[in-house]
Amino acid sequence: MSATKPQLASFRSIGAYVPEKILSNEDLEKMVDTTDEWITKRTGIKERHIADKDESTSDMGAKAAQKAIERAGLKAEDIDLVLCATVTPDYFNMPSTACIISDKIGIRNVQAFDISAACSGFVYALSVAKAFIESGMKKNVLVVGAEKFSSIVDYTDRSTCILFGDGAGAAVISATEKEDEAFVDVHASADGNYADFLVTPAPGSVNPVSQQVIDEGLNFVQMKGNETFKLAVKTLTKDVKEILEKNAIASDDIPHFIPHQANYRIIKAVGDALKMKEEQVVRTVHKYGNTSAASIPMAINDIWESGRLQKGELMLLDTFGGGLTWASALLPFAGESC
Ligand code: ACO
Repeated sequence: MSATKPQLASFRSIGAYVPEKILSNEDLEKMVDTTDEWITKRTGIKERHIADKDESTSDMGAKAAQKAIERAGLKAEDIDLVLCATVTPDYFNMPSTACIISDKIGIRNVQAFDISAACSGFVYALSVAKAFIESGMKKNVLVVGAEKFSSIVDYTDRSTCILFGDGAGAAVISATEKEDEAFVDVHASADGNYADFLVTPAPGSVNPVSQQVIDEGLNFVQMKGNETFKLAVKTLTKDVKEILEKNAIASDDIPHFIPHQANYRIIKAVGDALKMKEEQVVRTVHKYGNTSAASIPMAINDIWESGRLQKGELMLLDTFGGGLTWASALLPFAGESC
């Protein structure tokens, strides 16, 4: 009698949703003391999409999720775990956005919860999906990264309002026995010593809602941009080198390096340090800005929809965000090509 093969995790499908409204650098020039030239030179961002006033994080997440489920050839009832990575949930802090997304797409009586790891949230969620599948507890995990970042941005603060955008991406992670379809590795780490580099001070137990919170704008994101920038380049480069070395894979063997889309200068510095060619490095920051936990799945969706991502091709994901958190993943795309 042959032993049962272990259950492995595979990346089956991708979907995304981008809100219609575009906020360009020229629009921002009219709102704060900035220029298209400064934003382009310092960040590579030309425009970002902004959700409608009535459009929530879960609305965007649900639309991305529906596409991912359909493209995996599954139905809502096939999903047995829902994870939503977000730092702009519909509500602080219950119900979770994962619960609301589940309801909107007709997933019932299934475990659902949010993951808070800022821009690293999607890759953190992939590590959780992998663990649930490899333990044999789940078969089809819906992983959503969704952000209405505009809801925590102060549009009078030029140092942050030029950076962020809204959107959502989603993937279905399914059980497989085939080793060539399975995740190779996922790393996720954090260092709370740098918690004050990126923070939304309220609302929370430290600063519950009060008139003072509103007057001082503590409900808006604050960032030590330059310090975060330097640490991001160092940490992302180190993390990628480690995951490649550990798995004996050369950077030349990676067709799709998909870093978090925060700033083109960070993406370029990391790509150069790893000796990646331009065509290996996926770049969407110019059109979406930094969409936090949605940035990596939106970028994967972009290359899938444009026919660049084929079944079986290796993806290297690398991300960095508030917490501070960082994470990387090495995995083949196991779904059908577009
Ligand atoms: N337009 C014009 N001038 C500006 C603007 C603007 N929009 N914003 C800042 N400046 C000015 C500053 O006031 C400063 O002026 P000064 O020299 O007279 O004091 C000057 O430009 C330089 O400011 P720096 O902050 O040092 O500029 P820097 O080159 O570092 O670029 C940026 C700023 C784009 C924010 C960059 O630091 C960055 O991208 N940081 C990392 C962001 C990141 O990766 N975050 C992690 C993920 S986000 C998450 O987890 C949610």
